[in-house]
Amino acid sequence: MAIKVAPSVLAADYMNLQKDVEIVSNAGAEYLHIDVMDGQFVPDIAYGAGWVKGFKKITDMVLDVHLMVQNPERFIEEFANAGSDIIGVHYEATPHIHRALQMIKNAGVKAEVVINPGTAVELIKPVLHMVDQVLVMTVNPGFGGQKFLPETVEKIKELAELKSELGLEFDIEIDGGVNNETVKAAYEAGATVAVAGSYLFDKVDPVAKVNALKEATK
Ligand code: DX5
Ligand code: ZN
Repeated sequence: MAIKVAPSVLAADYMNLQKDVEIVSNAGAEYLHIDVMDGQFVPDIAYGAGWVKGFKKITDMVLDVHLMVQNPERFIEEFANAGSDIIGVHYEATPHIHRALQMIKNAGVKAEVVINPGTAVELIKPVLHMVDQVLVMTVNPGFGGQKFLPETVEKIKELAELKSELGLEFDIEIDGGVNNETVKAAYEAGATVAVAGSYLFDKVDPVAKVNALKEATK
């Protein structure tokens, strides 16, 4: 099955968000990736829960919320109530990753654990049974438009092996520097969902770009 595509609204045209969302949705992208940044865990600031509520009103896409915030427990209820379908929390952002994932599940939302490029896969082994999705960052989080880090492919492979060893079903998502070239190795390694920001929203034919990501992963 071709990879599921998750356009990142971080790279969309902020004055025409609804239009951009409709374009990628009609092109067959399944998820809408919403980056939340607190200016602490990552240097920048982006998208509060009010935006999730807004996106919920205009699209049926799966709202895939990536919390790049310190101590994400503080925000889980708010983002769950706003209509998130998946909430992702960074392993590095809390001493209580297990509790954070429990909170997401208790709120009736799909739970995702996220690891930075410098974080080993084995560290999340104790929580893999709880998650619906694992996000393996393929750049250091905080900004769009960075270059895909090829050393992350090995981690995707390791995670995919662990997944089958443990008999688990979670999706494996990649985020950062994804395009129709970089997606190939990640897909072969076991990635099932691809976030794409600057590649899709650089104003040159986003529909063809969604198709290219699908074509590259058949
Ligand atoms: C980066 C964000 C990404 C970002 C990806 O910290 O988590 O979701 O939008 O952007 P590209 O695809 O341009 O690397
Ligand atoms: Zn992201």
